[in-house]
Amino acid sequence: MKNTDITAQYRALDDQYYMPAFSRNMAIVRGKGSTVWDGDGKEYIDCVAGIAVCSTGHCHPAVVKAICEQAHELIHCSNLYYVPHQGEMAKKIVEVTGMKKAFFSNSGAEASDGALKLARVRTGKKKFVAFTHGFHGRTIGSLAVTHKPAAREPFEPLGLPTTFVEYGNLDAVKKAVDNDTAAVIVEPIQGEAGVIIPQDSFLEGIREICDRKGALMIVDEVQTGMGRTGKWLALQHAKVQPDIVTLAKGIASGFPMGAFAARDGLEFGKGEHGSTFAGGPVACAAGLATISVLEQILPDVARKGERFKKGLAKYHPRVRGLMIGITVGEKCPEVQAECLKNGVLVNCAADGNLRLVPPLVISDAEIDRAVKVIDGALGKVVL
Ligand SMILES: Cc1ncc(COP(=O)(O)O)c(C=O)c1O
Repeated sequence: MKNTDITAQYRALDDQYYMPAFSRNMAIVRGKGSTVWDGDGKEYIDCVAGIAVCSTGHCHPAVVKAICEQAHELIHCSNLYYVPHQGEMAKKIVEVTGMKKAFFSNSGAEASDGALKLARVRTGKKKFVAFTHGFHGRTIGSLAVTHKPAAREPFEPLGLPTTFVEYGNLDAVKKAVDNDTAAVIVEPIQGEAGVIIPQDSFLEGIREICDRKGALMIVDEVQTGMGRTGKWLALQHAKVQPDIVTLAKGIASGFPMGAFAARDGLEFGKGEHGSTFAGGPVACAAGLATISVLEQILPDVARKGERFKKGLAKYHPRVRGLMIGITVGEKCPEVQAECLKNGVLVNCAADGNLRLVPPLVISDAEIDRAVKVIDGALGKVVL
């Protein structure tokens, strides 16, 4: 069947049976490494990677093997029991985050919710401080600390009193954090906002302010974590130890999984938190396989980012590892369409910012091909 036919078939079902919350106009049917294919067999270099999810590339053999083997043994049997791989995966998360204990979720938003709940229950304080253009998820809890008015306001009132302050502005943080602030929640690089990279001193300043007021510091590494920026966590580029770290996206190569991890002394007691599916055996098997692949490729991520940076230098890209943003403006969708036509998937984040978050396994040859197409598209549409 041709892609146009497949797309038409999927669209017809979607139109009739699926709530129209997403904007999409093509179907992808297969992926391998940094390449995906549409129904016509046309291939694309995937610089979206499921929005920073497919860290080991599509269908990495080690991840596929781990998922299949575990699926043959035990898919699910509840957190009423110890289950295969969960403890091992928690140990890995603790090691890569430098935290003391972990807890699993099924998504980034749920990881945010868990972190916010933990901050509330252990501090006994009510309020939160978050940032303009920040994104932490779409559940009713994580949405309360997500800035984007169009996403948040239709659902107000939301349960968490949150003050939003300008990202990067430590004076504003200082003014907003008071003795009833449970936590400041911050992305070390704002992803949905379009790859906005603050000074390292921003995170360090937040740490100091939190310490002074007795508030916790939650760092949302859902998009930036698991090697995306060339280190396990983006916050590791700065000298800062948060109280709680959240993860998801790149953690299990696309198998739904999230996690949060907290420092010594911060943990849920019996019955304070839970989840039917979270930390299930298949997710943890996928996570462990993902981490062992990432351990091999992590040392090369920064160099690959530099290769993109060099190739796209005339557009002044913001680059940290393989998290890349380019300010394009209102013509960003045209650039995206031109790249698509020429076999490269890219994505427009907020405010006309082109975002590139390819698989961390992307090869130099694929980077060069992608750069050529993106350069051509930017040149044609913007320059
Ligand atoms: C920084 C950050 N936090 C949380 C989330 C929410 O993750 P999920 O879509 O898995 O719920 C996202 C998703 O884009 C994100 O970028």
